[in-house]
Amino acid sequence: MNGNFTFAIIKPNAVRTGKSGPILSMINEGGFEIEALKMVQMTTEQAESFYEVHRGKPFYIELVEFMTSGPVIVMVLRHAHAVEEFRKLIGATDPSKAEPGTIRKLFAVSVKMNAVHGSDSDENAARESNFFFPATERF
Ligand code: RTP
Ligand code: MG
Repeated sequence: MNGNFTFAIIKPNAVRTGKSGPILSMINEGGFEIEALKMVQMTTEQAESFYEVHRGKPFYIELVEFMTSGPVIVMVLRHAHAVEEFRKLIGATDPSKAEPGTIRKLFAVSVKMNAVHGSDSDENAARESNFFFPATERF
């Protein structure tokens, strides 16, 4: 995974509780450049499609409900080895297992309400970036 961009979401729990600013600061301090950013309220159809890969898993319905429970901030981030570096910055999916100093350790409250999303591959970074920024088609 050697691409230079990734896609990220600040999830509803973090936006709702005023953590967007501190999370964006950590992203900047981590050396990521913000290529694109907007706040959106996802529809059920959008969230289902975004999380298509998880359809049928036990947490899928709850995940879609949660991700549509309020506005989120979606963004494209630039950094060398961006996918890998961003996943290091956010930490493990389960905040109780996330490394100290990571975004999830600091701001997640549970596996579901885990504050942020980060793409897991260059291919998904491109798919997810174009999903939310279709007009640009530059990712
Ligand atoms: P993300 O996609 O949000 O960056 O998180 P991830 O790669 O670390 O985790 P993934 O396996 O892609 O799961 C997507 C989101 O679904 C929720 N989840 N709940 N066992 C569970 O209850 C469970 N497993 C996953 C989490 O909110 C996770 O971020
Ligand atoms: Mg994932």
